[in-house]
Amino acid sequence: MPSTKPIPASLEPLVGYFQQLESRATVSELQRRLDGLDIQMQELEHLAIFDDAVYRRNLVFECDWAEVLLICGKSGQRSPIHNHAGSTCGFKVLEGTGVETVFDVSPCGQVVANSSNEMPPGYVCASQDADIHQVSNLQADDQSLITLHIYSPPLRRMDMYSITGGSVEKYTPTNFEHTGGSGI
Ligand SMILES: [Fe+2]
Repeated sequence: MPSTKPIPASLEPLVGYFQQLESRATVSELQRRLDGLDIQMQELEHLAIFDDAVYRRNLVFECDWAEVLLICGKSGQRSPIHNHAGSTCGFKVLEGTGVETVFDVSPCGQVVANSSNEMPPGYVCASQDADIHQVSNLQADDQSLITLHIYSPPLRRMDMYSITGGSVEKYTPTNFEHTGGSGI
């Protein structure tokens, strides 16, 4: 389902790169392009839509080998603990300070937190496949977290983990515009 929304001018070089891809982008390439991306929130204001219940995934662009989402989270909203089975993922913090927690799989099969780090505006994170993490907005009150996410290819399946058990839940994200949480 190709996106028909006008693309903000600052994203045009990135979108041009995605449109000529014939295989998935590498972690290092996504990291490099997001590091070099100079975009102001004013360009994406019309896509910055929030949900009171869960963080919200707002579709910016989609093609065969990549999708771009503006993910908006209110204070206290968190992604599930998840991997990116089959996709390369990269994101840049545009507004607010997020927290990324990285998890390992313990010998008994349950996940265990390895480390957490704060992600201020401009921070770029890239991961792929079996990497397990959680992204949270732990800021106080009404402070928002807005990140620009890229998946290559578009994220169509992922595993979700529980901190209180060993079961792994398979999840297939829907990719309709303005869907709710589950993913990132
Ligand atoms: Fe993720």
